[in-house]
Amino acid sequence: MKALFSLLCVGSIPVVTAYQWPKTLLSSINPLIGTTGPEPNLAGGMIPSVSPPFGSTRWVAETQHNHVSATPFNYTESYKNNGSIHGFLGTRQPAIWMGESAWAGVVPGMSFGLSGDIKTDFEERALPKIPDTEQFGVGMYSVGLEIPDSEGGTVQVSMSASSRVGHFQFVFRQGNSSKSYYPYVFLPTARPTELFHTPDVFVPLYPNGTVEISPDNAEICGSNSEMQDFLLTPNSVKDAAQHFTGWYCARFDTAFSETGYGVTQGGSISEGATSGTGEYLGGYARFKFPGQDASDGESSSGVVTINLHIATSLISADQARYNLNAESFVDIADTQAATENAWAEKVERFQVETDGSAEAEERKVVLLTSVFHALHYPYETHEDIPNPSSGSQHHYYSAHDNSIHEGESYSGYSVWDTYRAAWAFTILFAPERVPGMVRSMLQDYKEGGWLPMWKNMIETSVMIGSHADSLLAEALLKGFGGLAESGSSEIQRTFTTEELTTIWESAWKDASVPPVDDDTVSYSDREEGVDYEARAGLSTFYEQYADNGGWVANDIHSESVSRTLDYAYDDHAVAVLSTLIPSDIVRTHTPGLSEIKAKFYKANSPESRLDSNVTTFLNDRALANPWTVWNPAASAPAIVTGGDDIMGFVQARQQDGTWGSTLDGFTEGDRWVYSFDYVHDVAELVKRRGGNESFVKSLNEFFDGGWADFTNEPAHHAPYLYALAGAASYTQERVREIAQSNFNNTPNGLSGNEDCGQMSAWYVFSAMGFYPVNPVAGVFVVGSPFFSSQLFSIPVPPFIPPAHSSIIDNPYYNSTTNSYELRIVAPSAETKQYVKGLSINGKIVEDWEEPVISYDQIRYGGLLEFEMSDQEESWGGGRGAWTRETNIYTDSAFTSQHVFTVEHNEL
Ligand SMILES: *[C@@H]1O[C@H](CO)[C@@H](O)[C@H](O)[C@H]1NC(C)=O
Ligand SMILES: *[C@@H]1O[C@H](CO)[C@@H](O)[C@H](O)[C@H]1NC(C)=O
Ligand SMILES: *[C@@H]1O[C@H](CO)[C@@H](O)[C@H](O)[C@H]1NC(C)=O
Ligand SMILES: *[C@@H]1O[C@H](CO)[C@@H](O)[C@H](O)[C@H]1NC(C)=O
Ligand SMILES: *[C@@H]1O[C@H](CO)[C@@H](O)[C@H](O)[C@H]1NC(C)=O
Ligand SMILES: *[C@@H]1O[C@H](CO)[C@@H](O)[C@H](O)[C@H]1NC(C)=O
Ligand SMILES: *[C@@H]1O[C@H](CO)[C@@H](O)[C@H](O)[C@H]1NC(C)=O
Repeated sequence: MKALFSLLCVGSIPVVTAYQWPKTLLSSINPLIGTTGPEPNLAGGMIPSVSPPFGSTRWVAETQHNHVSATPFNYTESYKNNGSIHGFLGTRQPAIWMGESAWAGVVPGMSFGLSGDIKTDFEERALPKIPDTEQFGVGMYSVGLEIPDSEGGTVQVSMSASSRVGHFQFVFRQGNSSKSYYPYVFLPTARPTELFHTPDVFVPLYPNGTVEISPDNAEICGSNSEMQDFLLTPNSVKDAAQHFTGWYCARFDTAFSETGYGVTQGGSISEGATSGTGEYLGGYARFKFPGQDASDGESSSGVVTINLHIATSLISADQARYNLNAESFVDIADTQAATENAWAEKVERFQVETDGSAEAEERKVVLLTSVFHALHYPYETHEDIPNPSSGSQHHYYSAHDNSIHEGESYSGYSVWDTYRAAWAFTILFAPERVPGMVRSMLQDYKEGGWLPMWKNMIETSVMIGSHADSLLAEALLKGFGGLAESGSSEIQRTFTTEELTTIWESAWKDASVPPVDDDTVSYSDREEGVDYEARAGLSTFYEQYADNGGWVANDIHSESVSRTLDYAYDDHAVAVLSTLIPSDIVRTHTPGLSEIKAKFYKANSPESRLDSNVTTFLNDRALANPWTVWNPAASAPAIVTGGDDIMGFVQARQQDGTWGSTLDGFTEGDRWVYSFDYVHDVAELVKRRGGNESFVKSLNEFFDGGWADFTNEPAHHAPYLYALAGAASYTQERVREIAQSNFNNTPNGLSGNEDCGQMSAWYVFSAMGFYPVNPVAGVFVVGSPFFSSQLFSIPVPPFIPPAHSSIIDNPYYNSTTNSYELRIVAPSAETKQYVKGLSINGKIVEDWEEPVISYDQIRYGGLLEFEMSDQEESWGGGRGAWTRETNIYTDSAFTSQHVFTVEHNEL
């Protein structure tokens, strides 16, 4: 086996800079954070897996059977002290509440004699850990295991991986008393599994597989059709998706043609068989110790080392074999080095200096591990084209149309979670991935008909809203994509005109086309047997039932309040997007606009409204509709804060306009948290809660009254709202308190599900000292930086040409690392949480009317100098970042100027 790519190139993505990042910070990552918890909802749902950033298959020790609600690894106390490993899994399960698909597996063992038993059963094959041998790293996992019933045999396992290839080194040792045991490696290929049906029903499933053994090449390859989330596949793509198959191809560096091999089915063994098909299938290869032979092993020397590479593919067995050759190093140390280099290229960009206290050092581990977590998803599903003749270097399998296409593709889009801050993190720190991730979404649209909501190989429609609209708008706002007509000519176009057209069409479809049977199907969470959920309830949302907009009717649709609010934000995002796409595209690719406007505006609306273009229309709807579910008369007693009741809450509404129950209509939250879900209209929210003072009081009641639940995403931006109501010091306090109580450096160190990086992205931005409350506003709300000194090396995005002013004339550009350096200095921040002052690039800003900084102020590096204090300061009183006049970000060098004036209730 030879390495076909250089050390600077991991997988298919070349490292853009020749700079070799050191690896000093990798040991400060704790891969065990978030790997257990009392129950699935109160656990990070992360696994200590080995793979490069955005790796296609992640390899992990298997401590439990994985399915929806259980990851393959759970670091319980009993596992830690006295655990067993059931094998090693190449998993594609992206989150604890999502299913597995296209996995591969490896299980070492020993048999008595060369034709002895192969243990295939999940429980029977368990190997107890040898105490104190387990080590977790980002590029290597290793463990010593006892082999039961082998009279003292053991195996030392080292496991590393590139994106599509797992690399194992097994050092088998004979026991002392018997020399009659022979090592084997079993490759589970198709397994008995379970399907999860809402609310809590597991049904056994036996996916089919194939296995092929080539003893002359020391290869075992196979496939299985397991895709646990198939039952959530939208009706219209189910026929295509049922063909979904995952392949693997494994090659040993040690011949097994003489020692034996075979196929297993359930508990039965076909020694010498070279192929098999069906359910509960596996293949195995037998090995021997030096000097040991089939008739008498007594003279053997007791140790044998076996290397195994196992590649995965979503395309074919041949592609898996190709991946095996393309990504494999002979020496596992080289595989480890390449994967660590890929992590170092990201993690070393986060240089943190603390005051040296134990607490601060712990926070630093949490920060660096958050960076690690936030770089897992979405993950690559494309593979290299063997001998590409022209055009794309990559191709991928799409389960939406059961075809292979050229291009890059990604899976693991938990968009309802990640649009909040994880995408902003990806854009800032992994910009080289953004074009491929965006194109992948456009391909999903072309192949299945809609942008992704929660793509796990196929669309699953888990959670709500069409927040892919927000991902597209934010990417374009931050410089990817087309130039608007008046944009800077220095920036290179990322997307072709055709791609920009698809971006616009797909987002407009979200905003304008309801799902099938929208009047009758509830589209409740994980509803099976329905089509794409898209914006379920759009047909009532875009009708104007009352004088002031539409809503998702609670008697037709689940989660109606959350949907109404989320769709309004998505409208805002599509409005922003419409200003970033060349206007000729927008004008000619907005089907149905006049009919949809006619539903929304009423005959008595001003003429200017009836004539409005799509931007104005969407902006109007984004600002009108969320307030239809605001009940100004709803109240809650101010139990903690005292005094007057809190007035004004969101509330479900029936189709006829009457209010529903105060408990109805929410997902992952309640009326308390959703009443703060107006990130694009904060100033109006403050007004409706009676002005700054009573708004701040309502936030205090929310936090101190026990209504804030940070284990789910709707609360993530809430602490930052204080700063928009002239009460920044509360933001500073709350952010520190949340960071302290929801994140720590232990296996149970994440209070809620990681959700493909959103929990961690919250932590990283909060540690930096700011957070993107409205992701498509191009601004951040300032909080409280966690460390005395932080230096972030921001990669140069692919749209920046070499002669760009941000490189040539920028004192914060570092040519050694080809990065923009953003330094955030906050002396004594470890012990002082309050902000007394902030200067930017050496300029003291005296009047912080709004504690908000723009993306442009940090995107090319810079110097933020905070003055910290141990007592509440008056700094940062402001009126709110988004006044109604500047509702859409206007201050970008790369977008045209758009100013919108929208009056309420005058539609
Ligand atoms: C981990 O295992 C413990 C003990 O069996 C169990 O209570 C818990 O629910 C599991 N947690 C997760 C996240 O699977
Ligand atoms: C460790 O686990 C094994 C099997 O899981 C059990 O038989 C044994 O009693 C346990 N030992 C301790 C010290 O808990
Ligand atoms: C086997 O023998 C070696 C060397 O004598 C000793 O260190 C080891 O503990 C023994 N292992 C077992 C399982 O008895
Ligand atoms: C496995 O294949 C058999 C025979 O073709 C078929 O009857 C069965 O439904 C398949 N199982 C699954 C889970 O697809
Ligand atoms: C929509 O109208 C606004 C305000 O008149 C204008 O600035 C913008 O260019 C128009 N957009 C399109 C796509 O026509
Ligand atoms: C650029 O970055 C390298 C690597 O971190 C560092 O050694 C060097 O001092 C930096 N250069 C400047 C001018 O800051
Ligand atoms: C909120 O307070 C700021 C001053 O901190 C003031 O400028 C603004 O007008 C107030 N907003 C409201 C709605 O009362």
